[in-house]
Amino acid sequence: MKLTLKMYGTPVLRQKAMEITKFDSKLKELSEEMFRVMYEAKGIGLAAEQIGRKERIFVIDIPPLSDTNQNGERENPNVQMPEIFINPKIISHSESTQKGIEGCLSFPGITAEVERFYEVSAEYMDLNGSKKIINAKGLLARAIQHELDHLNGVLFIDKISPIKKILLDGKLKKLLKETKKNL
Ligand code: CO
Repeated sequence: MKLTLKMYGTPVLRQKAMEITKFDSKLKELSEEMFRVMYEAKGIGLAAEQIGRKERIFVIDIPPLSDTNQNGERENPNVQMPEIFINPKIISHSESTQKGIEGCLSFPGITAEVERFYEVSAEYMDLNGSKKIINAKGLLARAIQHELDHLNGVLFIDKISPIKKILLDGKLKKLLKETKKNL
C-alpha cells in the first residue's frame, strides 16, 4: 500500500468518512501507511481522508516536548503516543476554550488561529475493535478536534475568522489551482 497526501481541493476532503466494522490486517496496514505519510510530512496528526481513504480513522503523535502548557508542564503525562483513533466520538468537553495557531498537512504553508475546546474526552476503538476513552487537554485536545473534523468533511479554514479567511484567500486559491492541476 502506497498512498499520498491529498491537498485542499481534493473532493474526498469534503466527504463524510464511514464507520469501520472490519478490524483486520488491512486496517492495520492502513494505519501504518497513515503514520508513514504523517511522519514523512512531519505532521502530528493525519486523518484517512488526507490520503484519499474514507474510513473513520485518524492517527496522532504529539512529541512530549510539544505536550506542555505555558509553564512548561506536561498537559497529558499519562497518555501514550502515538495513538490510533477508530470510529472516534467526542463524549464531553470543557466550557473553556483555547486559541492557537493551527496548520494542516493538506494546506502546506498555511496557518491560522483557531479556537477549540481546551479539554475533550473522546471514545474510540483500537485496531482490535476494543473500546477506549481518552481525556485530552491542550494541543492533544486540539489535534483530536481537528482530526475528527476531517472525518466529517470539515477543514480548519472553516473555523477561522472571516477577516483571516479574506487575508488567506490568495494562498487558498493558489493551492486550489495547484491541486486541480494534479487531480
Ligand atoms: Co488537517
